[in-house]
Amino acid sequence: MTDISKPINLWEYEKLAKQHLSQMAFDYYSSGAWDEITLRDNREAFDRIKLRPRMLVDVSDRNLTTSILGQPLQLPLLIAPMAFQCLAHPEGELATALAAATAGVGMVLSTMATKSLEEVAAVGDKHNACQWFQLYIHKDPGLTQNLVERAYAAGYQALCLTVDAPILGRRERDVRNTFSLPAGLQLANITNVSGLNIPQASKESGLFTYFSQQLSPAVTWRDLEWLQSLSPLPLVIKGILRADDAVRAVEYGAKAIVVSNHGGRQLDGAIASLDALAEIVAALNGQAEVLVDGGIRRGTDILKALALGAKAVLIGRPILWGLAVVGQVGVSHIISLLKDELSVAMALSGCASIQDIDSSLLTGNRIISE
Ligand code: GLV
Repeated sequence: MTDISKPINLWEYEKLAKQHLSQMAFDYYSSGAWDEITLRDNREAFDRIKLRPRMLVDVSDRNLTTSILGQPLQLPLLIAPMAFQCLAHPEGELATALAAATAGVGMVLSTMATKSLEEVAAVGDKHNACQWFQLYIHKDPGLTQNLVERAYAAGYQALCLTVDAPILGRRERDVRNTFSLPAGLQLANITNVSGLNIPQASKESGLFTYFSQQLSPAVTWRDLEWLQSLSPLPLVIKGILRADDAVRAVEYGAKAIVVSNHGGRQLDGAIASLDALAEIVAALNGQAEVLVDGGIRRGTDILKALALGAKAVLIGRPILWGLAVVGQVGVSHIISLLKDELSVAMALSGCASIQDIDSSLLTGNRIISE
């Protein structure tokens, strides 16, 4: 039997994390919506892509560095916004932020964080880290305005608006568990709104109830103007799956797009984010930076996403597995596993730098002509 007590890849971290988490927390993190078709397809989309490695290239020195919205990254990786990280480890988002900052990768802090955005920013500050703030628009405009102003004052470098969640997707495992935050945990940035404590008689996930009560399902493109008037932060739109929406987002001022289906947690049956990527990259034609998330578990997955035109990728659940197993050390290890795998994948495909990763690595039907 494989000894997973010393994980050597992200899959083994997931198995180990399951032993460290309550059923409710593991289910919340790992589940997708309804039949979890999109959740599975996000992963399978990577496996469907085959590579055409280039030979006899000097790959003795590999340079994994890149930049996103003008900020340097040690590798093309950001940590996706994920709620309630203190469910995984008492240091929660602070541990994640420290691991990201010391590795030189980006971090997107969730509105639904269990540590305050100011505390997390203070961790990033010491390392000049790339930190973005993820925003959900609440029904109360004052609350949204307050979050944006605080994020700007704290030093976040971009505002990442999630647009795929006018209401929360139905994750049936959370319904089964009547998901709620355990005593002692709270939404650290929204303390003046009643949190996720659900009535005993509820048959719903507490987060679903919170979304229905507090978040606005009425947000449209027109609100982006208001949002951008609240601070000078560049706007990143996360949750786009179609070229026309991507083009529109840029027309409304977005500087970057995250091609994403929210880790398969919103509309089940939605296209795998990797499958939506090439069309969006082609339509934007360099007018905005394009990132992608969903299903990335290997360095080869990062290589494939970049070959399809992504500038960088976001990684979600595996970070929580690292956090659950051994806090910041686990998150740092997850990042270094991915970095190492990407470096090996680059060497084996004849890429000495990130700029060498292009669509010629893909098989014919995947190449989108310029
Ligand atoms: C929150 O955004 C979630 O997807 O659970």
